[in-house]
Amino acid sequence: MLKNKEKMKNSTFHFMTIIMNIMDFFTNYSNKKFKTLEIQEGQIVVDYGCGPARFVQNSSYSVGKHGKVFAVDIHPLAIKKVNDKIKKFNLENVEAVLSTGYKTYIKESSVDIIYALDMFHMIENTNEFLGELYRILKQDGMVILEDGHQSRVNSKDKIKNFGLFEMVKESKYDTRYKKGK
Ligand SMILES: C[S@@+](CC[C@H](N)C(=O)[O-])C[C@H]1O[C@@H](n2cnc3c(N)ncnc32)[C@H](O)[C@@H]1O
Repeated sequence: MLKNKEKMKNSTFHFMTIIMNIMDFFTNYSNKKFKTLEIQEGQIVVDYGCGPARFVQNSSYSVGKHGKVFAVDIHPLAIKKVNDKIKKFNLENVEAVLSTGYKTYIKESSVDIIYALDMFHMIENTNEFLGELYRILKQDGMVILEDGHQSRVNSKDKIKNFGLFEMVKESKYDTRYKKGK
């Protein structure tokens, strides 16, 4: 079950959006960050906890017309941001998904890349969350996880306790996992 703590107040969401926009304006953060994700043409990707949708346009263009982007969030304002971008930039391959708890309706074993950026620290029920990522990921798919506001050790411990993912790459930016054998 999702705890209310994960769903921020509307005012907090608006404030976060302003801060992120300022950061992007001055440092080009989201464009630089997006390049590190190495999203490929034709992939099915999930932006889990998409927030103000700052990666959605880049994702959409990278996967192209044969790919698909699911932008998932528990917050209705995030879903509105995604839908506004879909309309403004005609992003036909993007779908906004309002998740309930940790569940989505995304088909099982269908996703190439899940990226969950700056949100893992917010998750209260780690195993339910990771269980959903595991369910929708293809056997050779990859999860890209930022620690968010928690230590690397903490974030790796959570994955280890879940037990079904195997780390394939670690960098200062994120840790990357595949389904374990
Ligand atoms: C700090 S924002 C980061 C947004 C985006 N990933 C980025 O880096 O720009 C965290 C987002 O995760 C979302 N979130 C938190 N818990 C969630 C959950 N259980 N399922 C889906 N989204 C969640 C929040 O609503 C918020 O929009």
